[in-house]
Amino acid sequence: MAKTYRIAVIGGDGTGPEVVAEGLKVLAAASEACGFAYETKDFNVGGNRYLEAGGDPDEPSIPVIGDEEIEELRSFDAIYLGAVGHPDVAPGILEKGLLLRLRFELDQYVNLRPVKLYPGVWTPLKDKGPEEIDFVVVRENTEGLYTGMGGIQYKGTPHEVATQIMCSTRHGVERVIRYAFDLCRRRDDKKRLTLVAKTNVLTYAHDLWWRTFNEVGQADYTDIERDYNHVDACCMWFVKNPEFYDTVVVCNMFGDIITDLGAMIQGGMGVAAGGNINPGGVSMFEPIGGSAPKYTGKNCINPIAAIAALAMLLTETGTNAGDETLVAAGDRVEKAIMEVTPRMQSQSAGRMGHSTTEVGDMVAEAVAGA
Ligand code: IPM
Ligand code: MN
Repeated sequence: MAKTYRIAVIGGDGTGPEVVAEGLKVLAAASEACGFAYETKDFNVGGNRYLEAGGDPDEPSIPVIGDEEIEELRSFDAIYLGAVGHPDVAPGILEKGLLLRLRFELDQYVNLRPVKLYPGVWTPLKDKGPEEIDFVVVRENTEGLYTGMGGIQYKGTPHEVATQIMCSTRHGVERVIRYAFDLCRRRDDKKRLTLVAKTNVLTYAHDLWWRTFNEVGQADYTDIERDYNHVDACCMWFVKNPEFYDTVVVCNMFGDIITDLGAMIQGGMGVAAGGNINPGGVSMFEPIGGSAPKYTGKNCINPIAAIAALAMLLTETGTNAGDETLVAAGDRVEKAIMEVTPRMQSQSAGRMGHSTTEVGDMVAEAVAGA
């Protein structure tokens, strides 16, 4: 009997639940069209539940997600996440308590962020189109400046000291670099992997990255060209020559920054998707744009990013399970997106021309009719 895929759904905060609902519409259409079985389970976690349960808005006081919930999430085939971030909860509480905790505990060590300009989508880059903007960033997702190592001493005094440690381990760096080389090989594009780092200043942490990148490349990936950018220069080249890139591998913090730049050149946060991937475990897929609280409930946020995250969920889960039907479903959803974006009024900044639910319907119809 064919497998029934189990997908955990965390709508989360702000506009998260609205865009996830459109993704689920498309999932239903894809299941119908391609013939795979699935079930979903909703997890009510996020800022509202934290506050309702008596969580302190200014200090982390109670868990944002429980240990039992995390254990339960381990049993799913994938997690579909909307957004994290609530205007009444201080920065860091929900991000660390939910998003980062899941990334760490589920060991989702790759943050995969395609930078792909869909047809008809407006980009601020003059003279660049879908042909020129199509690369993928592999961001390390469990180390670097995100581990929470460090601390504050003498808080609130003139002698206050704060440290935040950039922690890189050989194990952590090597596994994400290998993932990036493998992905670059599979993409079969320019066969070029660019390491983005800051070896001229971070002479310990990024020396480890540099040595690992070259050792691994020389030993096992001589078919892939090795390229290097300092992170500041990479910000220039993403804008000036995006067509140069194929696959990029980068540490957690720099990856966070350059993928927002990447999102902007592919048409903005409304279209940018990401996957938090544990190749041997449970992965989580999300639109990377955040919770956009001021647009909540207005049916005006672009769900394309969430739908693109759903496409990634299908492709990655299918690849992991060796299930061609699911991989084909991911392709079908992506093709449907590319059929719909030229019909949206996305030729100018910030204009969608349709409501959130209309765009979901259009993509679901394109999936059905493809
Ligand atoms: C992202 C986000 C998160 C990050 C925040 C919400 C903690 O910006 O996924 O890029 O910094 O990783
Ligand atoms: Mn970010």
